[in-house]
Amino acid sequence: MKKLNIAVMGCAGIALRSMIPAIKASPEWNLVSVASRTREKAEQFAGKFDCEAVVGYENLLHRDGIDAIYLPLPTGLHDEWINKCLNTGKHVLAEKSIAANYHSAKTMVLAAQSKNLVLMEDFMFQYHSQHQFVFEMLRNNEIGEIRVFRANFGFPPLPKTDFRYDDAVGGGALLDAAGYTVRATHFILGDDFVVKASNLFIDPETGTNIFGGAFLTNTRGISAQLGFGFDNFYQCNYEIWGSIGKIIADRAFTPKVDFSPTIIVEKQGERQEYQMKPDNHFIGSLNEFHRAITEHDAEKHYRDVLLQSKTLEDIRNFSAK
Ligand SMILES: NC(=O)c1ccc[n+]([C@@H]2O[C@H](COP(=O)([O-])OP(=O)(O)OC[C@H]3O[C@@H](n4cnc5c(N)ncnc54)[C@H](OP(=O)(O)O)[C@@H]3O)[C@@H](O)[C@H]2O)c1
Repeated sequence: MKKLNIAVMGCAGIALRSMIPAIKASPEWNLVSVASRTREKAEQFAGKFDCEAVVGYENLLHRDGIDAIYLPLPTGLHDEWINKCLNTGKHVLAEKSIAANYHSAKTMVLAAQSKNLVLMEDFMFQYHSQHQFVFEMLRNNEIGEIRVFRANFGFPPLPKTDFRYDDAVGGGALLDAAGYTVRATHFILGDDFVVKASNLFIDPETGTNIFGGAFLTNTRGISAQLGFGFDNFYQCNYEIWGSIGKIIADRAFTPKVDFSPTIIVEKQGERQEYQMKPDNHFIGSLNEFHRAITEHDAEKHYRDVLLQSKTLEDIRNFSAK
């Protein structure tokens, strides 16, 4: 196993809480530097995680010996910084949403392809073992043929100073909570879904979208109903409704690493609850990033980046009609 050097661009909450602890716990990665706009934050993170503090993102780009960057900046800053990372020869694992629009995603993917670099969007929920259990249920035909997929991700309002309320830095529920529901649709049921309807509610106070929904269908007649928002009662689930039963994942997207999610399977006159083992999907995502780099296997991630941003853009465009 080849150990790779990784640096973090932006001392974000998600980096502090989850991703840097996962990097430190992973034998495949060596954390070399953290960069912040401010010296105070860079030094605070570097002290806590025993690595080099870099002040200013630009200065990180010119450090020697960095194989890859983990980039948890707000989406509106991704276009500039992801392209700079790629242009200086670094593989990139970027937080969702990776791109503010489809054009930006295409530019990033072309840059990564031309330099043989991995560009991956950090939807870590996909690496939680609970979904493998769901796939096994589907393979065993437990619920028959799939008819409808429903996914919901939403949470109560954040402080109004949060960047998610600022469109200038890629705010809005579409690029945030909706992203999980779209990725889940493609991850669970495949890539062939098209957007047929959508709705985004624009908050008059901040001017950004804060909740909405979308309706997608695929060539096999399956419908996907998506709900999302950040002025909502907390929901973090998906449901697969088949011809003879139904599967519910009740904590589908953000289970904490010590949390045991429940998968519920319902059939006529029958309801089974299966307790899943806790799993560290942050490490799972880092493992996949490492695998894609060392096995030169970036194509799937390029496809996912393009599909994801195209679908989000279609949802935005439909809602404007
Ligand atoms: N995959 C997941 O489960 C998950 C969960 C939460 C968040 N996220 C994603 O991770 C990213 C960060 O989210 P977060 O909640 O951790 O945010 P956060 O704590 O606000 O961190 C964002 C960081 O970006 C940097 N930054 C640079 N310019 C900024 C600007 N104009 N406004 C705000 N921050 C700026 C800051 O780092 P410095 O001050 O150090 O420069 C800041 O700490 C987002 O893309 C979000 O969607 C993913």
